[in-house]
Amino acid sequence: MTERILIVDDSAGTRDALTGILEDEGYEVAAVGTAAEARDQWRIRSYDLVFLDLMLPDADGMELLDEALSDFVDLPIIVVSGHGNVDLAVKATRLGAYDFLEKPLALERVMLTVHNALDRRRMRREIEQLSHHLYPTELIGDSPAMRRLKSELERAGPSDSRILLMGENGTGKELAARRAHQLSARTHAPFVDVNCAAIPEELIESELFGHRKGAFTGATSDRTGRFQQADRGTLFLDEVGDMSLKTQAKVLRALQEQRFERVGGSDPIQVDVRVIAATNKDLEEEIQEGRFREDLYFRLAVIPIEIPPLRERREDVPRLVEHFAAAYAREQGRRPKTFAEEAMARLQSYAWPGNVRELRNFVERMMIMAPGHEITVRDLPAPIRNADGPPLDELLDIEYADLRAARAAFEKRFIERRLAEQGGNVSRTAEVLGLERSHLYRKIKAYDIDIPR
Ligand SMILES: Nc1ncnc2c1ncn2[C@@H]1O[C@H](COP(=O)(O)OP(=O)(O)OP(=O)(O)O)[C@@H](O)[C@H]1O
Ligand SMILES: [Mg+2]
Repeated sequence: MTERILIVDDSAGTRDALTGILEDEGYEVAAVGTAAEARDQWRIRSYDLVFLDLMLPDADGMELLDEALSDFVDLPIIVVSGHGNVDLAVKATRLGAYDFLEKPLALERVMLTVHNALDRRRMRREIEQLSHHLYPTELIGDSPAMRRLKSELERAGPSDSRILLMGENGTGKELAARRAHQLSARTHAPFVDVNCAAIPEELIESELFGHRKGAFTGATSDRTGRFQQADRGTLFLDEVGDMSLKTQAKVLRALQEQRFERVGGSDPIQVDVRVIAATNKDLEEEIQEGRFREDLYFRLAVIPIEIPPLRERREDVPRLVEHFAAAYAREQGRRPKTFAEEAMARLQSYAWPGNVRELRNFVERMMIMAPGHEITVRDLPAPIRNADGPPLDELLDIEYADLRAARAAFEKRFIERRLAEQGGNVSRTAEVLGLERSHLYRKIKAYDIDIPR
């Protein structure tokens, strides 16, 4: 990532000298001579470091410094002062400038200050990244569907192409987006997410593109939009199917041109942003209904990736349960509770309409609420205890050696299910099944069925 430096100094000599040495070091440099130009520059571009001369022809340098410090988080500003105004420079560092340099500028001193300032900025960004990564981006699951998803992300993540993630609520779209960002060259730049469904229609443009002071009632100061915050990083447009057609048109334009204007502003702002979008809607259907722009769809779905619902990858349930139980236990400093085999089988039978998010919340609840160390069928809430399991055709997909093996597999599951429903009471189960108690007992032995307590 090439770092960008802005030089604000009314002396052409200083501008040229600084530009020369900084460009030689491989930085991208812009140089301007007035406060007005400086404001224009940082409105349209984000900088990693600014050199600021406090004696400018059109403004008080202190005021400009103050503006920059309040507008940008962690932007190092190096004040350049001439002879005789060192006092002012000292005052500037007290205000929050990173450091000051006296003219004439000594090359080595300039470079040392620049390196230190950028190192500190990089470190701060990394710390922020790390705290982001505190919620890890590892995708748990070994089902064929999950393995496919992981390998798609391994390929699409580093590509810098736009990705559209499609899946029901709670399937892991945001997690997949973070993973793709982490795998990309943009990993040290920000991952900025916008939930298009959560922002009121009147505010979404300002949220995405920012606004100028006075653009509308309530716009009491300039504001940077999400697109600009994500410059050189990734913008995660969540619930993209919920944008109005008007907003869609603006987003489309921003994507086509990689630039846009703030609400109430006219200077074009240039950004380098990778967009990853997500939706739980069927966008093709939305297009049919005239609610989603087809051209935007094609822009977003350069690489479409589908995340299947949990009920279509039930094999993943046990590992996810263990993962969430262990994570919760670690957080709380306790021993994780475990699920008895039959209870786990029920979790696999349940359809999880809220997908992984629902499973995660459920596991956390059980860790808190279940009385013992082992969670049994009886501890499960009714909808899960009585879950029907996969539809018949899924049972048919399993490869059996012959009819006998298929019948045995079915019989075993059927008995397990009924036994669990009767809370492990063999006599009552025998009655329900229309079998002699001793006959059922022999089958339980033969199939090695655990009687739930
Ligand atoms: N494969 C997985 N491995 C581990 N954790 C997962 C996995 N999939 C989802 N999760 C976890 O489940 C929760 C829901 O995932 P996420 O927020 O990414 O889903 P989403 O599709 O964005 O959901 P929504 O549509 O509700 O916004 C998160 O806590 C996430 O960390
Ligand atoms: Mg989400």
